[in-house]
Amino acid sequence: MEADHEVAPPNLADIDVSAWRELETAATSPQSGFRFLNLCSVDSEARPQARMVVLRRADGPSRVLEFHTDSRSPKWRELSTKPHVTVLGFSTQTRLQFRLQGTVELHAPGSDQANAAWDKLSPWTRTTYTGGPPGDECGFEMIDEAVLPKPQDDAKGKPHFGLLIFRARTLDWFQLRRQGNRRALLTYDETGALAACRWVNP
Ligand SMILES: Cc1cc2nc3c(=O)[nH]c(=O)nc-3n(C[C@H](O)[C@H](O)[C@H](O)COP(=O)(O)O)c2cc1C
Repeated sequence: MEADHEVAPPNLADIDVSAWRELETAATSPQSGFRFLNLCSVDSEARPQARMVVLRRADGPSRVLEFHTDSRSPKWRELSTKPHVTVLGFSTQTRLQFRLQGTVELHAPGSDQANAAWDKLSPWTRTTYTGGPPGDECGFEMIDEAVLPKPQDDAKGKPHFGLLIFRARTLDWFQLRRQGNRRALLTYDETGALAACRWVNP
């Protein structure tokens, strides 16, 4: 009798656990495909806007992802009025796409949460926030490599440092396979508990 080599498809609760474990790992692992995610919002003219952001923290039980940004940036304005976002990522290592939908909470510069996150940043990362407002025109001397950058006082960035807390309500999970891609939709309630899950056509 031939051995049965068929592997049972993973169960949806296991998929949920491993997806969030992968996001939690990505937040501290620069090599992970989910370390950089696409954060998509809608601007004041209802046009979609997307940009890469670094995943700073993930928490599976509460379905939370944390991002950092400059509160002078266009995305901050967009998110203040329209907090509904999509977060999209793909990992070549695991051949998984995650498309998460939910809302973001904005923690402005000087708030307790933004201050706590700021305190954990390296001096180098803090200097990211010391320049002019993102998107404003800058002088050529800013991009000329022959001009040595002036040493920056990293504390100057703190008044611009904002924290984004994203809470997922759905995860559209897609596994790219040589044969038979798989896709599942997972829904979370307001406490973060898995409320529904089903396989869908990829
Ligand atoms: C790999 C990568 C990671 C980035 N990480 C961040 C980030 O964590 N936060 C951020 O505000 N911008 C980050 N950026 C820059 C944004 O993609 C974007 O260009 C900038 O924030 C301006 O976006 P906005 O005009 O939509 O506000 C990153 C860019 C790249 C290429």
